[in-house]
Amino acid sequence: MLPAGVDSSIALREAYSHDWTEDLRFLPDAVARPTSVEELQGILAYAYGHGIPIIPAGGRTGLSGGMLPVCGGWVVSLERLNQILHIDTANLQAIVQAGVLTQTLQEAVEAVGLFYPPDPSSRGSCTIGGNIAHNAGGVRAVKYGTTREYVLGLEAFLPDGRPLRTGSRTLKNSTAYNLTQLLVGSEGTLAVIHTATLKLLPKPRHVRTLLLGFPDARSAIAAVVDILQSGILPTAIEFMEQEAVRFGEAYLGERLYPGADELGGLLLIEVDGNHPEALEAECAQMEEVAFQAGAQKSWYAQSAAEREQLWRLRRCLGIAVKSSGPYKEEDTVVPRTALPELLDKVKALGRQYGFRSVCYGHVGDGNLHVNILRENLPADVWEKDIPKAVEELFRFVVARGGALSGEHGIGWVQRRYMPIQFSPDELELMRALKRVFDPKGLLNPGKIFP
Ligand code: LAC
Ligand code: ZN
Repeated sequence: MLPAGVDSSIALREAYSHDWTEDLRFLPDAVARPTSVEELQGILAYAYGHGIPIIPAGGRTGLSGGMLPVCGGWVVSLERLNQILHIDTANLQAIVQAGVLTQTLQEAVEAVGLFYPPDPSSRGSCTIGGNIAHNAGGVRAVKYGTTREYVLGLEAFLPDGRPLRTGSRTLKNSTAYNLTQLLVGSEGTLAVIHTATLKLLPKPRHVRTLLLGFPDARSAIAAVVDILQSGILPTAIEFMEQEAVRFGEAYLGERLYPGADELGGLLLIEVDGNHPEALEAECAQMEEVAFQAGAQKSWYAQSAAEREQLWRLRRCLGIAVKSSGPYKEEDTVVPRTALPELLDKVKALGRQYGFRSVCYGHVGDGNLHVNILRENLPADVWEKDIPKAVEELFRFVVARGGALSGEHGIGWVQRRYMPIQFSPDELELMRALKRVFDPKGLLNPGKIFP
């Protein structure tokens, strides 16, 4: 007899065999969707006793294969633990279960004048638990930081079902090792997070949105440093190269502004605050800086609908590229000054290895999403040569002070590149930490480590 909440029907197993990563599929042996914390605990204790691997899952929107059941076992989806337990409007905090959709939390706190800034493009489908597990970023990180900055405390289970409580309901905490931040970004390999205490902010009352067009992609991303040096801190600075705009427009079946897709690169910039005149002055100043840096065109969103249209294009790029055919997505991140060189490197590798790439991303954070398209590449090139190109790319990134992933995590697809960034001693230290939490190696096995 399987414990309550566990289902081994083939339809469900197939539905939970993939996330948004490439076209990868691995069939789990069963799927558990506990409806209470107690049920979750029972499932974990049973699985641990029987040596069954457990793969925690959120909205399954991940792009590094973090929830793929690569070693079989049970996918434990937190989707039914989806209650916002408390919005504390006096302390500016929310206590939420892991399965709450990010957009649902955003809207709930905004309804009472508060703000949860982390804003991944998949916000309508991803969950707070998944965001915490991968330290999700999104479009507002340049000003507000990533998910990590908003996690004050966690409730979780160790793989055998023992409860774990980390952090506190305070903004400050200098009390011993920071287990909260160890669990953030641990990709479900250390514990199963079910509840989080999150920091909120007062909701800025106004936003203003500006789109800037540059003749080429390189000058667009080079302008990012100038804009930030001008003394303004935008909420978002998003980059789209011409090819990305084309993919987005084709996917939506809509044109952006006349001439926008003739430009080599666009920056989508947003500022927020309580005083519209100040925001308008900031936009004017950024426009001036951008034109000095080579911009040729600017569009100022005149209405909420226009602003939404700009963001709809930007937010659909991931799915637009994915729906065009097989591809690999690299989540490179470097200090902002290295971005132009990074883009050059991507394009040079494309010429050398014969692939086309589509680049866009959160350039205010130095985070460039590099999408390598398969198109007509033969199987041996795709399987043998492209990973070599990716390795070269990551060596470049790490040499410039960057990292393998800015916000998508390592999961299954990036783990082979870990030795580029970490020494054998550093990897062993991480493995030793994993063993302390999960001595039997049953929690999300096959992830992160090469
Ligand atoms: C985005 C996802 C792919 O930035 O991270 O749209
Ligand atoms: Zn992104």
